[in-house]
Amino acid sequence: MSNQQPVDQNTSAREQMWREHAALIDWKNPFTSVLEYGDGARLPPPFARWFVGGTTNLCHNAVDRHLKDRADQPALIWESTEVDVTRTYTYAELHREVVRFAAGMRSLGVRRGDRVLIYLPMIPEAVFAMLACARIGAIHSVVFGGFASMSLAKRIDDAQPRLIVSADAGSRTGKALEYKPLLDAAIELATAKPEHVLLIDRGLAPMTRVAGRDVDWAPLREQHLNADVPVEWLESNEISYILYTSGTTGKPKGVQRDVGGYAVALAASMKHIFYGEAGKTYFSSSDIGWVVGHSYIVYGPLIAGMTTILYEGTPLRPDAGIFWQLVEKHRVKVMFSSPTAIRALKRHDQALLKKYDLSSLRALFLAGEPLDEPTARWISEGLGCPVIDNYWQTETGWPILATPDSPGNASPHYGSAGLPVFGYDVRLVDENTGVEKGINEKGVVTIQPPLPPGCLQTIWGDDKRFVQTYFETIPGQLTYSTFDFGVKDKDGYWFILGRMDDVINVAGHRLGTREIEESICSHAAIAECAVVGVQDALKGQVAVGFAVLKDPTLAVDMAARMALEGEVMSLVHQQLGAIARPARVHFIAALPKTRSGKVLRRSIQAVCESRDPGDLTTIDDASPLDQVKQAHLGA
Ligand code: PRX
Repeated sequence: MSNQQPVDQNTSAREQMWREHAALIDWKNPFTSVLEYGDGARLPPPFARWFVGGTTNLCHNAVDRHLKDRADQPALIWESTEVDVTRTYTYAELHREVVRFAAGMRSLGVRRGDRVLIYLPMIPEAVFAMLACARIGAIHSVVFGGFASMSLAKRIDDAQPRLIVSADAGSRTGKALEYKPLLDAAIELATAKPEHVLLIDRGLAPMTRVAGRDVDWAPLREQHLNADVPVEWLESNEISYILYTSGTTGKPKGVQRDVGGYAVALAASMKHIFYGEAGKTYFSSSDIGWVVGHSYIVYGPLIAGMTTILYEGTPLRPDAGIFWQLVEKHRVKVMFSSPTAIRALKRHDQALLKKYDLSSLRALFLAGEPLDEPTARWISEGLGCPVIDNYWQTETGWPILATPDSPGNASPHYGSAGLPVFGYDVRLVDENTGVEKGINEKGVVTIQPPLPPGCLQTIWGDDKRFVQTYFETIPGQLTYSTFDFGVKDKDGYWFILGRMDDVINVAGHRLGTREIEESICSHAAIAECAVVGVQDALKGQVAVGFAVLKDPTLAVDMAARMALEGEVMSLVHQQLGAIARPARVHFIAALPKTRSGKVLRRSIQAVCESRDPGDLTTIDDASPLDQVKQAHLGA
């Protein structure tokens, strides 16, 4: 494949636009060029470098620079319906806590460029830890609390953190969920060992400490109450963080982001997409373990000088009105959630929506999975404010598509993820030929490089995988594939039709089926298996496994099958976490495969969803597909 890119006629307009957006953040030293890409660049396409030579800092832009005008304004409000606590930190208080955390981390040997893995529930210390890393130029890697030891171990081995920050436990629906034993097991499994583990003791579960390695945060904080840790000025293209995401293989990809480009993209998106307004309140119900949490709980709202709400709890406790109660209580201007959360609320009384004063709410943003029309309609009507679908990925860090906000914005286009966002050259192409698709023709959603600021720079430690995975799948061109199928209507509205790879989306959480398959196959009784995502009315998709036993007699009767299914599901739960636990694991005699031995996952999925299994001319034997149908649909 040629790395030569056609000269972009819009180059100067693009650079001018980003130069203007760049003025939304503080720079210590100005950049010498907006973009380095193509001819004469230090790196060949598709690698891009934004705001080259400029020095800045994410923590400075999110915290320090607001101290002048808004020191006493709330920056972070922690709302926990799990432990019934509300705690508010002004910008001045947030600054103090972040500096203490930075000092504590430094005392444990953390330096610029070191990785710090953060495995924490939704508590303020998670935000302090992220910002403290940003402050001292350490690279954070936040791992979602719903992942268990094996998932965690893979991420430890890949990121090789000097420090891990964790806690005794999280809490879900009032019950403690222990983190520390999972972390200890993960460190045991991992080859790379952190020098220290910094522990937040919430008093939710007993913790054992490993002498010399484990350090408690509370006493360390006491030692650094009056610390002063200046920000490290970083070149725009230094690394801010790694965030792992699932792909086609069992090895998670460390999405690596820069500093300056990310700060600018977030500042621009807050201003032009999310109604960011300093002094107002922003509430995203996501989790800091996901990209939405990084961009739109922590960095985006704080860069915009807003008050951000960190919510520990579910959408349904104490009742399905809790989101709206918080909107009323904090006069929330902008809210961000997921279609699954709204579908869960939809099962409850719509009166709960009417019970609260929601007049402060400017818009509700929903992302992470397709927003179905009935849900979009229900929530739009219920809230009486725009509901804005936006489509993006861990890799991009901020929206690629978003529905425009105009009166009755979604009504003619319910189900659409909207129009391309500024900075993105989005194209629909044929997966086999690379030819651009026309109106109402299904194609792959691609982005012409250079990717805009804020998108991934590379895969941590694996430039080759970055290029091969994302840019070399469409024949004849170097273009970024989202791995999503889409279609565009005559008005230019885009519809996302689902993934073309083995990534599934459970309740807005992105999971790789290969990781789940590896876990199922680690059960001694299993010979091989396939996991597919099957449509679900609430969660969008659920994982369903089909396993072949080494000894088929183990599943002779219903009781034996059920016991084995329970065992396999617990194994996945224990290794990967509750989030990856399949909804069902069926035992069948053989997997449907092509004659060359490739498992026909797409056909399995189609059969489970009562759809046409597609072209079966290469199938080796059709009977396993009948078994899939029989097992899953009982037909
Ligand atoms: O398949 C698309 C789906 O979620 C994937 C990205 O997931 P993740 O990396 O977790 O990032 C989520 C950031 C919001 C996409 O490849 N997806 C995301 N948003 C939408 C969506 N599918 C349909 N509509 C959306 N608005």
